[in-house]
Amino acid sequence: MSNVSSFIPRFIGSNLIRHLLGPAGFQGKVVNLDSLTYAGNLESLADIAGSAGAHRYCFERIDIRDAAALGAVFERHAPDAVVHLAAESHVDRSILAPRDFLDTNVLGTFNLLECARVAWKDRSDVLFHHVSTDEVYGSLGETGKFTETSPYDPRSPYSASKAASDHLVLAYSHTYGLPVTLSNCSNNYGPRQFPEKLIPLMIMNMLEGKSLPVYGDGRNVRDWLYVEDHASALWLIMRAGALGEKYNVGGESEWENIRLLRELMAAVARRTGRDARDFERLITYVKDRPGHDRRYAIDCSKIKRELGWSQALSFEEGLRRTVDWYIDNPGWIERVRSGAYRQWIEANYGSRG
Ligand code: TYD
Repeated sequence: MSNVSSFIPRFIGSNLIRHLLGPAGFQGKVVNLDSLTYAGNLESLADIAGSAGAHRYCFERIDIRDAAALGAVFERHAPDAVVHLAAESHVDRSILAPRDFLDTNVLGTFNLLECARVAWKDRSDVLFHHVSTDEVYGSLGETGKFTETSPYDPRSPYSASKAASDHLVLAYSHTYGLPVTLSNCSNNYGPRQFPEKLIPLMIMNMLEGKSLPVYGDGRNVRDWLYVEDHASALWLIMRAGALGEKYNVGGESEWENIRLLRELMAAVARRTGRDARDFERLITYVKDRPGHDRRYAIDCSKIKRELGWSQALSFEEGLRRTVDWYIDNPGWIERVRSGAYRQWIEANYGSRG
């Protein structure tokens, strides 16, 4: 594997890229494709410029909805592996504007698969790795976990679009013999996540004294995966995963939302020297998300058993690092939220788009 294209340097992608350019052992070129929508942030990879892996990295502003641009980039870089992380990922946005999710997650995946099929005709020394979510499996009751053979039961426009993309990837494997692997992960968290997701949103609101909006009764359960652990799992699957197989990647760290919020309040209080009770009064129970899945839990024994993966960090340590990062990087947050960053992108990349 000499060239890797990684799609979307957003939260998970930027961690994977940092992993591939760091001491992970990968020596090839990393081509980073991103359309730089609201959540894409080149600043998340700014540290690469001065690193030892900098000469192996390049960025292309490409939208996967644009089949012609994708075809050209395949010709330019001749990648022999694609890690497909490009997706609209926020459930609340999918409820408000589902079309974007179908366009990017379904048709964008189709465009990528077509490029790979054409570029890699009759090649078996290539890999298309598709990154997906545990949300394709639906919602669990009090017990049980999703395994790789759980039936698909997506229930939001977001999860339905990701389920469709998973099926397309497997269809290309069965029909055209495209060498593929898939992974389905639980909720990621860590530094540099766009502050619309639960953990960074709550940290920000605590620091700014804003209300902490808890959907419904706050007893929905999510499994939390530290983003660097996810990156190490992806790299392992790329190297050692069996073709045509899917792997569940989870944190084995299940939390009811309200309990997680209290844990987060304690972590922010510890770091800032504030009293956690100051945050308690900010908790506001708000109208539930429509169709809110009750519980997600991942059985990740397959990747542990077959590939020897494990999480490197405890949830407490991951949360501590996350809280520290958001407190230590107010400039990053200010820029992604203020629109100054978006203006910079348009000024620098607008004409190249
Ligand atoms: P989210 O980060 O949106 O991830 P997902 O819905 O894909 O699991 O939300 C995580 C959980 O937190 C989910 O149960 C919804 C809940 N939530 C809130 O209670 N308040 C909020 O403001 C947000 C964004 C999420």
